[in-house]
Amino acid sequence: MALSRRNFLRIAAGAGAAFGLGGSIANAGNAPSIVGSRRAGTPTASVRGAGNPLRFPPTFSGGTLAAAVGQKEVWPGAQTEVWTLGGSYPGPTVRMESGGTFTARFENGLQEMSNIHWHGLLVPAGMDGHPRDAVEAGRTFDYSFTVEQRAGTYWYHPHPDMSTAKQVYKGMAGFFIVSDAEEQALGLPSGEFDVPLLLQDRRLEDNRSFRYEVMHMDHVHGYLGDVALVNGTPEAFLEVARGLYRFRLLNGSNARVFQVALAGKHPFHVIGTDGGLLDKPYRVTEAYLAPAERLDILVDFSDVEIGQSLQMYSVGYSGQSGRNQGAEMPLLRFDVNRGGGGGSIPQQLATLDKLDPGTAAQEREFILQTDETKNPPEHKINGKTFEMVRIDESVKLGDIEVWTFQNTTPVPHPMHLHGAQFQILEVGGSEELLPEQLGWKDTVYVPPHSNARVVVKFGKHSGVFLVHCHNLEHEDHGMMQNFELVQNSAVEHGAPLPTRMDLR
Ligand code: C2O
Ligand code: CU
Ligand code: CU
Repeated sequence: MALSRRNFLRIAAGAGAAFGLGGSIANAGNAPSIVGSRRAGTPTASVRGAGNPLRFPPTFSGGTLAAAVGQKEVWPGAQTEVWTLGGSYPGPTVRMESGGTFTARFENGLQEMSNIHWHGLLVPAGMDGHPRDAVEAGRTFDYSFTVEQRAGTYWYHPHPDMSTAKQVYKGMAGFFIVSDAEEQALGLPSGEFDVPLLLQDRRLEDNRSFRYEVMHMDHVHGYLGDVALVNGTPEAFLEVARGLYRFRLLNGSNARVFQVALAGKHPFHVIGTDGGLLDKPYRVTEAYLAPAERLDILVDFSDVEIGQSLQMYSVGYSGQSGRNQGAEMPLLRFDVNRGGGGGSIPQQLATLDKLDPGTAAQEREFILQTDETKNPPEHKINGKTFEMVRIDESVKLGDIEVWTFQNTTPVPHPMHLHGAQFQILEVGGSEELLPEQLGWKDTVYVPPHSNARVVVKFGKHSGVFLVHCHNLEHEDHGMMQNFELVQNSAVEHGAPLPTRMDLR
């Protein structure tokens, strides 16, 4: 069964995508795709001279991070109500050195509860932005933790119970980029050649609002948009030199799965995933990115003439349902306008210790289901929807375990863990992994009617953490569980959590 499923998922398709490389027609070719079979696209490449310059949020390395409602010109000539962090949409880009202490006062200037979760960072449970620690309107919360991780592209976003999806959609999310000595020694592109790209789809409303009204089918598939914004920029372009660039892609969409490619099958190299650099660069012509996943890539523009453009886009694919899921979408147009970039791709990157599933202390299975007869639909793990005070699993601190996610639904589920990092063992019954599935991960794409197995290394901080689907509508409507990291995992399941008051 696993094998036929795998074949179903990896249909080789030959339909052509048609984004121009300086006006030429690109043939998308036959690369296997895990997200679905490729579908013929409508040429929608943006024309040089059109569009909006890529925006960059300010950088931030500590201080006050206030949540507020504001107005921004997202589409030229229109005001959009955005919910901002640090007054900016997207939120400010945090840059930290591994080993440093990050301190931020969160001020909740919204009319509802909110907080911040540091996605991918291993921090003490009380700093992790669990929904039980959500901050009341008008209140503050002081976050402070040591950045324990290796270099990588992490991010942050609110995590209040049942309104994470809306708050992220309205604009609250930003990068948390960590650097370390191992990475710095590689001489990877830096400064203006190291560019974070937050990919998010949004609906094209007549009044250009970030209206968030979720209908039954949006609950089923997640809230999908019509166009992609990059760093909050519609029809974005970036002027680049003829050289090597590092792009840190983050899929900050509520539900969209992007299959990223460059026009003309222009190659690029995957150098990192959720938890930092891979062992070496992997040359590809496309790579997928489910919600919350990151992809660190190198793109070499030295073979593009000055005056030409190269379009980055999401390849159209079929076999998935939901408004526009799998639609071909332009992401970002690179306008090569100068020489002098330089840079070469290192042969080797980082040292990666491979986790041995043979050392797993335990195996656990998580069955993912959706009950569409309910309104709104209920998304479940092992038959249960999320309960704030129910502990669903108890895991011993520092243990290695094998977790399997079994997707019984026709919709993909990007499953994410707090308080741990993992390595993927197999997806859809295949141990043959794509570059984007390698390395340290915190989110795994579980294809429709399929499964994913991961080997998890749990962190050293005790307390309650979450495992959930990062399709944010699914997360908000049940597909989330608490697990507790304990010294001694003999704690009975289902024991109630101490209340927030008890913890103080
Ligand atoms: Cu980015 Cu619990 O999530
Ligand atoms: Cu997280
Ligand atoms: Cu889901």
